[in-house]
Amino acid sequence: MKKVLLIGFGNMGRNHFRAIQKGQVFRLQALMDPMADFSTVPPDVKLARKIEELNDLNQIDAVIVSSPTESHFEVAKYFIQKGKHTLVEKPLAVNVRECQSLLAEQSRSSVKLAVGHVERHNPTVVKLMEILQSGVCGRPIHFAFKRVGYYPKNVQGGNNVVLDLAIHDLDIMSLLQGEVEFKNASGLCYRNSKIIDVCDIGVKSKEGVSATFHASWLGTEKARTIDVYCEFAQIRANLISRKCVVIKTDKSTGESIYEDYEVNADDALVSEHAAFNQLIEGKRSSICTADQGQWAVSLAEAAVNAIGSRS
Ligand SMILES: NC(=O)c1ccc[n+]([C@@H]2O[C@H](COP(=O)([O-])OP(=O)(O)OC[C@H]3O[C@@H](n4cnc5c(N)ncnc54)[C@H](O)[C@@H]3O)[C@@H](O)[C@H]2O)c1
Repeated sequence: MKKVLLIGFGNMGRNHFRAIQKGQVFRLQALMDPMADFSTVPPDVKLARKIEELNDLNQIDAVIVSSPTESHFEVAKYFIQKGKHTLVEKPLAVNVRECQSLLAEQSRSSVKLAVGHVERHNPTVVKLMEILQSGVCGRPIHFAFKRVGYYPKNVQGGNNVVLDLAIHDLDIMSLLQGEVEFKNASGLCYRNSKIIDVCDIGVKSKEGVSATFHASWLGTEKARTIDVYCEFAQIRANLISRKCVVIKTDKSTGESIYEDYEVNADDALVSEHAAFNQLIEGKRSSICTADQGQWAVSLAEAAVNAIGSRS
């Protein structure tokens, strides 16, 4: 097992902590967070309140960065320069300029840099991809993504619903259809006049497949769905209830026929860690690479700029 350092022990950091314990590839060697409660952490894990307190990095094989988005650039840069394989939570950074700087830093070393776009490893998304690749529904024509959540407790400047929520689906679309072109975006700064909390984004692939992305922090109920309209059928994936349904029309009666596809119970974050380990070992991996992470940020940035110029 590789020894891992976890940076940030908030909501997502705790999820990584659980997935490290559940998985087979990493052992938690050290944990750093300026203020989190460490009382549940096993005694053999080295604890730190500042990066500088982690003076024995020789013990560390890889780092998982789960601190707030605004800190990703500084923290990831520090560990890449220290020669550590680094998995950064999504988004890779707050803008393309920071992503480019991280990729340039990485290219000067043999370090593997990856991004925690965990939805790639969500068994419902994996099943959706299998259905699309099987051809049973024909060619995809249009994707409609919807991702709704509650307003976050702490929103720092530079963050917004595009970077926080819509970016998950922008990455899924790129995974399914390759690099897509940004077309348009509209949105709203409702709760705070400077922070986008609702957005609708449009993109198109080189082959002409279009997609729309609705994301909102104004929900009172969480939603994460993907509808794919294909030549012969519609596919509906619900990432929360883990359901994947193919909907066809009965030619003789005109009625809808629903075919449920089984989705396995794999833990997406455990799968993400296994994929990061494969990347480190030079094997084929489904992890979001640094350039794919930058691509997702570039689409998000285009959307934020378009919304900003209209509001
Ligand atoms: N992949 C996903 O599905 C998913 C879901 C939620 C959050 N995230 C991402 O995870 C990251 C953290 O989000 P969260 O919801 O856990 O936030 P959070 O506020 O719950 O936790 C952040 C933690 O980082 C600590 N921290 C602050 N500054 C730090 C620094 N410079 N170095 C180290 N630790 C620091 C805080 O004390 C806090 O404990 C964000 O980038 C977010 O986008 C990803």
